[in-house]
Amino acid sequence: MLERLETIEAEGTAAVNGAGSAAELENLRVKFLGRKAELTGILRGIADLEPAERGPVGGAANKVRKGLEALVESRIESLAGAELEASLASDRIDVTLPGSPVRAVGHLHPITRTRRLIEDVMIGLGYQVMEGPEVEHDFYNFTALNHPADHPARMLQDTFYIESGAGAPEEAGPRDVLLRTHTSPMQVRAMETTPPPLFMIVPGKTYRRDSDATHSPMFHQVEGLAVAEGITLADLKGTLLAMLREIFGPDREIRMRPHFFPFTEPSVEFDVSCFKCRGSGKVEGEDRCNLCKGIGWIELGGAGMVDPNVFGFVREAGYDPDLVTGFAFGFGIERIAMLRHGVGDLRLFFDNDVRLLEQFS
Ligand code: DAH
Repeated sequence: MLERLETIEAEGTAAVNGAGSAAELENLRVKFLGRKAELTGILRGIADLEPAERGPVGGAANKVRKGLEALVESRIESLAGAELEASLASDRIDVTLPGSPVRAVGHLHPITRTRRLIEDVMIGLGYQVMEGPEVEHDFYNFTALNHPADHPARMLQDTFYIESGAGAPEEAGPRDVLLRTHTSPMQVRAMETTPPPLFMIVPGKTYRRDSDATHSPMFHQVEGLAVAEGITLADLKGTLLAMLREIFGPDREIRMRPHFFPFTEPSVEFDVSCFKCRGSGKVEGEDRCNLCKGIGWIELGGAGMVDPNVFGFVREAGYDPDLVTGFAFGFGIERIAMLRHGVGDLRLFFDNDVRLLEQFS
């Protein structure tokens, strides 16, 4: 009997030590220590043994039971610890890794980027950047820019009028408040507050009653104004040339054509030499250059020498037309962005379709 107990102890110890999981140990506990286990049977049968055997067999059997129980317990503990560690290692979260999915980083709108490019170039030429109101008075938008109340040039820039106060639609009085049709009103506002010499640009939103592939009811312009003693049309040309070479490349040329604007005299429209056909109007494989339509020049904006009548509105602020002269220019930001990026329809800039916007990242 004692020998049998030794065998049970040896088998049980070997089996428990060799178990690889908590489930396996549970099975072994049932097999060696459960109700139907051989050892349990021996313990139960002790009373039936010869009196002389009861003591040694009982003591040995209890020792084997306790030993196996303790071994199973300690193996369960160490296995549970190992299992926990394994699952911690496999479930490990590296908090230093970026989240998933990685967040897309946005970028500036192409119109904003073009505006900033123009600002950078002009700041480099010594100009300050100013901003003006989009809801403007007729006075700044038209009257002070030498458009008298009945001037036909007002019709070229039909806009949106703001109803001023109760009963306004029936009132016949002047429709005084409007959405500015150009950035030019800031010429007068800037001169009112800043004495000459003045070198400034005004980027911003403008509004007109227009809508087609190259016009939208809301669009962006940049205005430029330079006023000091002795400013000439040659300064205007040099400034436009420097600006457009920065924007469209160092080989560009510009030209000015006579035009009419009420607030400049003389007035011009200015063009930049086509950067696709390099001013020749011809491109191999095409009838004519499709960017400049074979002309060799691309129309960009209006400009001229500030009309003395405009200075007349800000004489008090130090702008005596007998002492100072100045030039002004204005052009559309969308047009520059369309030309730089080959975008054919201006309205695409405002649809906010990511398929277009993503191309500018
Ligand atoms: N404001 C004019 C327009 O929107 C453009 C313009 C023409 C601006 C001549 C000027 C200028 O400053 O001198 O059509």
